[in-house]
Amino acid sequence: MLIEFTLNDQPVSVEAPADITLLALLRDYLKLTGTKEACEVGECGACSVMLDGELVNSCLIAAPAAIGRRVVTIEGIHDADGGPNDLQRNFLSHGAVQCGFCIPGMVIAGEALLTKNAQPSRQEIRVALAGNLCRCTGYMQIVDAIEATANERIKKSN
Ligand code: FES
Ligand code: FES
Repeated sequence: MLIEFTLNDQPVSVEAPADITLLALLRDYLKLTGTKEACEVGECGACSVMLDGELVNSCLIAAPAAIGRRVVTIEGIHDADGGPNDLQRNFLSHGAVQCGFCIPGMVIAGEALLTKNAQPSRQEIRVALAGNLCRCTGYMQIVDAIEATANERIKKSN
């Protein structure tokens, strides 16, 4: 079937089977491999993307569910010059990136949180990351990076 939607602010149109997941559509058909494939049962958050601004596990979403909607993947998160954005730079500077397998999902979860809650508490950040597992146990640094980004963005907007 023809699946048409907005992917990282660009219209896309892709012919794919109706019974695949959004994760498979992104990785196998659109070759966007930043979204990771791990548990495939909604437990780990490695496959996190935003669907109409909501954080979702793309392994649990049928590809046709994206039709007519806005999908943002890690490839869509960057600065105006195409480099890492402030959140991604803070992940690096706070030592939040270890093996990196969970990191695309963590960044997406962080962005999804910050678009809804510009100044989250550390507890709210932890809750927002509850569906994203990091087996390297770098959670403290990840929370630090999101908190620092929130503070910087608030400062900038004042
Ligand atoms: S791969 Fe989707 S939640 Fe783990
Ligand atoms: S940095 Fe290793 S799983 Fe998260």
